[in-house]
Amino acid sequence: MKVKNVIVTGANSGLGLWTTKYLLDLDYSVVMACRNIEKTQKAIDEFPEFDKNKEFIIRKLDLADFESIRNFVDGLEDFETIYALDCNAGISYEGPFRFTKNGIEETFGTNYLGHFLLTNLLLEKYTLERIVMISSELHNPKNKSPFAKAVFKPVPELAYPKVDENTTLQKQTQSFYATSKLCDILFTYELDRRFKAKGLPIKTLVNAINPGLMLTTNLGRKHTSGENLYRKFLDIIFKIIGLSDNPRASAKSVVRLIDAITTSGLYYDKDKLAQSSADSYDEQKAKALWEGSEAIIGSKFLTK
Ligand SMILES: NC(=O)c1ccc[n+]([C@@H]2O[C@H](COP(=O)([O-])OP(=O)(O)OC[C@H]3O[C@@H](n4cnc5c(N)ncnc54)[C@H](OP(=O)(O)O)[C@@H]3O)[C@@H](O)[C@H]2O)c1
Repeated sequence: MKVKNVIVTGANSGLGLWTTKYLLDLDYSVVMACRNIEKTQKAIDEFPEFDKNKEFIIRKLDLADFESIRNFVDGLEDFETIYALDCNAGISYEGPFRFTKNGIEETFGTNYLGHFLLTNLLLEKYTLERIVMISSELHNPKNKSPFAKAVFKPVPELAYPKVDENTTLQKQTQSFYATSKLCDILFTYELDRRFKAKGLPIKTLVNAINPGLMLTTNLGRKHTSGENLYRKFLDIIFKIIGLSDNPRASAKSVVRLIDAITTSGLYYDKDKLAQSSADSYDEQKAKALWEGSEAIIGSKFLTK
């Protein structure tokens, strides 16, 4: 039987590492697409559940750098087929604005725009059969957390935001994260519409997922050992009261979208089909996001 290759971005930590483990267990061949090769090797060495006899390779990919994304895709020439792409990598920070190598706000640039470019470059070369976008419940302004809400804006304002003196940097950068996760869903639905518009039997199934709140991953934190202990404690309490998930469990829901699900253009809350926010279904916003992203990158993709 032909081996099915799956690319997992940010495969060296948290959800991505567990997703890789389960894919390998199912005999997929995994390209671990990570920005730091040594860190990835170390993460594998320190992960007892990881079966090193399975088929995986580590490849360098920095989603905050267009050139790195192009080099990554060019470097796949030894792969005849790619079965699936899991757009998992993500960052979240609080405080002074940070920017990618291309001068784009880092959360928008990494979580959404880097994956937009990666996905489209791959689609120019391969018929991906499954695409998974890792989003978050925070994309939906109706979520109950105190985290700042997602606010969709014209792409130049998302990519090159100006500091708003009327609110804190913490709130502004939180909102960048939530909005990047909204962009991931807008992109998912727009991709699906573009595939369907071609009127051919649809080969590529693309879905978005909220993996749930996972307090023990590395997302957005420079952990001190005290903080680590505190987060582990919180994780246990949250689990007892049914509020927290963990990457070990959530990765199973992600793998399901690659290995079992045959829907497309949908949003899952872990294993359950769910409604995403009102904005995420707005086709005008999705079109503006797509075209604004193309304008920044300077290329057109998947023209209808
Ligand atoms: N944790 C949660 O509660 C939660 C909730 C909802 C959704 N999510 C989403 O779940 C996904 C996985 O996050 P996680 O919680 O597992 O966090 P994590 O442990 O911090 O993993 C994030 C991964 O993304 C990688 N990454 C960050 N910037 C990158 C870049 N420029 N290029 C390539 N890779 C990059 C990281 O690499 P390094 O190790 O090199 O930094 C790491 O491998 C993210 O999309 C996140 O938004 C998380």
